[in-house]
Amino acid sequence: MHSLWKMIREDLANARDHDPAARGDLENAIVYSGLHAIWAHRVSHWLWCRGVKAPARILSQFTRFLTGIEIHPGAQIGRRFFIDHGMGIVIGETTEIGDGVMLYHGVTLGGQVLTQTKRHPTLGDNVTIGAGAKILGPITIGAGSAVGANAVVTKDVPPDHIAVGIPAKSRPRKPDEKLKLVDPDCYGHGENK
Ligand SMILES: CC(C)(COP(=O)(O)OP(=O)(O)OC[C@H]1O[C@@H](n2cnc3c(N)ncnc32)[C@H](O)[C@@H]1OP(=O)(O)O)[C@@H](O)C(=O)NCCC(=O)NCCS
Repeated sequence: MHSLWKMIREDLANARDHDPAARGDLENAIVYSGLHAIWAHRVSHWLWCRGVKAPARILSQFTRFLTGIEIHPGAQIGRRFFIDHGMGIVIGETTEIGDGVMLYHGVTLGGQVLTQTKRHPTLGDNVTIGAGAKILGPITIGAGSAVGANAVVTKDVPPDHIAVGIPAKSRPRKPDEKLKLVDPDCYGHGENK
């Protein structure tokens, strides 16, 4: 129970860090569909891992109905995961997501084949995916990288890179670069302040 409460508080603090529009925790807990989606996913993933698969799928689909965010219960998602705005998000079954990852609305972490293999992306720690971006196939987006809005990424992105365009091209992030709308420090109340 203590660790559940700790996790909820961490998620609420994370929402404050990632959205300059965020206000009080109670209000955020009520209005942020991204928080509702990750909380429901933690329950459905717990069920899925214990073989209770049908209820896990039903919970996942019910959450999709409420939030517009579809996360397959098999997806592995780390701590401090945040979805801003929600709506139109798809996260496939074999997706793996590290800690501190942020997605905007309209992101797809999808597959390109119909076989039951690892077919969805792996996102390293502290990756940010811009609105509408499609990340397709069992590729890796390296830790600390960002994908620009509406990019289509079908190849690995190395750590600390920025990928934009269709098909996406990557370039290294400059060491002191602050990304617009993707770095909590930009808002003046990030965890490094
Ligand atoms: C990709 C991104 C991280 C780049 O940020 P940045 O490094 O500060 O880049 P800049 O704004 O300096 O732009 C550099 C160049 O990339 C281009 N560019 C920026 N974002 C782009 C994108 N998503 N797709 C294609 N080109 C893009 C710019 O036009 C500029 O081109 P130029 O060199 O020919 O002038 C950022 O633009 C982005 O897409 N962030 C996602 C934000 C988001 O989804 N917000 C939703 C809030 S609701």
